[in-house]
Amino acid sequence: MASVQQRDDFSGDIASALLGHYDRHARDLPWRSPPGTPPPDPYRVWMSEIMLQQTTVAAVFSYFEKFTERWPDFAALASADDADVMAAWAGLGYYSRARNLIKCARVVVAEYGGELPETSVELAKLPGIGAYTAAAIAAIAFGERVPVVDANVERVTARLFAIETPLPAAKPEIRAAVDAITPAERPGDFAQAMMDLGASLCSVRNPQCLICPLQMHCTAQTAGLTETLPRKAAKKAKPDRTGTAFWIEREGHVWLIRRSDRGMLGGMRSLPDDGWNARTDGDSQPPFAANWNAVPGEVAHVFTHFRLTLRLAATAAPIDESSLPPGEWWPLKSLDSAGLPTLFSKAAKLAIRARQKI
Ligand code: ADE
Ligand code: SF4
Repeated sequence: MASVQQRDDFSGDIASALLGHYDRHARDLPWRSPPGTPPPDPYRVWMSEIMLQQTTVAAVFSYFEKFTERWPDFAALASADDADVMAAWAGLGYYSRARNLIKCARVVVAEYGGELPETSVELAKLPGIGAYTAAAIAAIAFGERVPVVDANVERVTARLFAIETPLPAAKPEIRAAVDAITPAERPGDFAQAMMDLGASLCSVRNPQCLICPLQMHCTAQTAGLTETLPRKAAKKAKPDRTGTAFWIEREGHVWLIRRSDRGMLGGMRSLPDDGWNARTDGDSQPPFAANWNAVPGEVAHVFTHFRLTLRLAATAAPIDESSLPPGEWWPLKSLDSAGLPTLFSKAAKLAIRARQKI
């Protein structure tokens, strides 16, 4: 029993040292409320946590402002046009998040009266909300005492307890350690304080242990192991794929399609292409027979599971427009508002640069 008691005191020390630091140094982010004050609107917490999955705080700011101004609550988002939401998400990446964002809003309106359920268990049943996001929303918006573990928290925790098991095998051990130090009071502030520590002092390289509020609790720091933790299993190399996109132009307009909801960049507007995906190269076949010209240059893009080199071929519109794949003529002047994902906006820039040279 004595050891359990000791562990509790020790864990409490970590939480209070970290919360004390957070009270003075919390980042002021638009989806947060100041340390120790009532929680923010759950809609804003949910929106921010979806956007912050695999994406940096810096990249999320402007999207968060745009989305919450245009669609201020679940009811507004649930009744939005899918195409508008997908276009507004363009550039943020991981587009299944945007499809799930719409789905989730509709479920919240249809089944929960427009308000998020308040427990991590219920939250995890909603579209786009995995274990991490459910925990983050439950802790931050509803004060549930639940361990919240993202990559930053993983690093801080592996160091605090000198966990030498490599990731991802170490995940259960890290989660148990986070659980042990998460306080019943202010669990949301604690989670965000851990995230902030990982995003600032406890960085991947050169952690600033000398000014860290957890220094006296940190086993890696005492043992001189900080920079070697967390250990990671060797990553699989990403395969290289190639594909071709097709630029079809007529009188200052380009032909854009909407991608099928399944598959890469599902639901997004894009140029027609030759069917490349994570497992296969594109077949280089254009959508109709014509005089296709290779556009000089190519676009390199890194997806989660592969790298893509995208080439571009251009032609004028066919005489018989019924041979075009389903889509629409989009004015070149307002291509910025088409909501093209980054890969295709890079390809479009290539095409436009090439025509200016002719
Ligand atoms: N990353 C994910 N959620 C976050 C949050 N609430 N604050 C800072 N970074 C985060
Ligand atoms: Fe990270 Fe160093 Fe603080 Fe340990 S003492 S938590 S390694 S910054």
